[in-house]
Amino acid sequence: MAGLPCHYYAKINYVMKQFTVSPLANPIKTTISVPSDKSISHRAVIIGSIANGRTEIKNFLSSADCLNTLKIMQQLGIEISNCNNYETVTIYGRGLQSFSEPKNILNCGNSGTTIRLLSGLLSAQNFLSILTGDDSLLNRPMGRVIEPLTLMGAKIAGRDNNTKAPIVISPGVLHGITYDMPVSSAQVKSAIMLAALQAKGETRIIEKEKSRDHTERMLAAFGATIKQDKNEVVIGSEQKLQAQNIFIPGDISSAAFFMAACSIIPGSEMVLQKVLVNPTRTGIINVLKKMGVKVEITNKKEISGEPVADLFVTSSELNALEVKGSTIPLLIDEVPILCILMAQANGKSVIKDAKELRFKESDRLKTMAQVLRKFSVEVNELDDGLEINGLAGKPFIINNFIEWPHHFDHRIAMSIAIAALKSNEPVIVPGAEWISTSFPDFEKLIHQLQMAVV
Ligand code: S3P
Repeated sequence: MAGLPCHYYAKINYVMKQFTVSPLANPIKTTISVPSDKSISHRAVIIGSIANGRTEIKNFLSSADCLNTLKIMQQLGIEISNCNNYETVTIYGRGLQSFSEPKNILNCGNSGTTIRLLSGLLSAQNFLSILTGDDSLLNRPMGRVIEPLTLMGAKIAGRDNNTKAPIVISPGVLHGITYDMPVSSAQVKSAIMLAALQAKGETRIIEKEKSRDHTERMLAAFGATIKQDKNEVVIGSEQKLQAQNIFIPGDISSAAFFMAACSIIPGSEMVLQKVLVNPTRTGIINVLKKMGVKVEITNKKEISGEPVADLFVTSSELNALEVKGSTIPLLIDEVPILCILMAQANGKSVIKDAKELRFKESDRLKTMAQVLRKFSVEVNELDDGLEINGLAGKPFIINNFIEWPHHFDHRIAMSIAIAALKSNEPVIVPGAEWISTSFPDFEKLIHQLQMAVV
């Protein structure tokens, strides 16, 4: 890649951005704020668009994924304004049937939440829509939304025998169903709920393990009647949603990277302010505690229907652990960074029942096995998980004979950056531009950490 500046290199047909992270020699003591929650930001824009009246969203996450959702709602004719570079977004909603036919295809980029939730929403509209995305999204399973929506009467089809995007939706009239979900997924559950709002009769959704419940909470905050019992949600049709003002808390999935950084650098302490502590998302806090890390939850309050708190994290030697079963959906997006924590623990850790990780922005089990080997960690890839032999707090040694994985994925790139803080040499983090899908200021915050050593 001669001729390019050293922080860029050519990858296939585009230029890949990189940044260097140096190891930290001393403990960190700092207070940080992490970016706003991605899942809640998507839902605020979508639900605000189908409510009646003016919804103001404060602390919106202006990451690439959430901006894709916002731009699609504008393509569907919804009036949306913003100030302070999208920090506050105002939506002028006119109810469930106020969209107009988009003139062009709807590009969801890298965002699974956008394509799946909007498949549900658009299934009951009286116009044609086509949803597509980037290479990663085109390879992710879409049969899981196409199937239940078809059962509801939607005229929906996808590439590769209705299993992949692009997804084409023709005008449809929907009816309620009872649906036993084969895989726990908040995206699928939410797609069905958004369709159910426009269907005739009640819809009942049953999950094996409970997934994140932000759609349920936000629809209830906007005035919808939803019955919930353990892993079951019942939602009626013809509900009228009333506009609300929403504050988006810090994303615990983004906070997890910095909680991990604090955990693996001995003597460190960190306060993370205003982080979402919804129990369907706090699996990582429970696992960190089991590994020996002190995590105190303070200033807990409810904001816009979601529990929010400050987290005070103190580093510790890490115990090896087995993580499986119903814990997996509660930390589904934190598995890559959990692998880095396990690689620093005393002894062998195991992740099981996590086959879903193979269907994320990359095959995260395969990719994390490659990443761990690059950091000289012994790892065994299982069909549904990983076995990781921890280094008992010793620094990672970069193996220059192993390549970084080529499937760049925001959470993999951030996991590499955090591991670099505990490595024997500076690490060039590949695929930096992917990080902006969920965490636009990540690199800045890493530099803030490097300035916060004591
Ligand atoms: C999300 C649900 C999860 C998660 C994704 C965001 C959501 O996906 O991995 O990052 O906002 O509903 P699944 O529903 O596919 O598990």
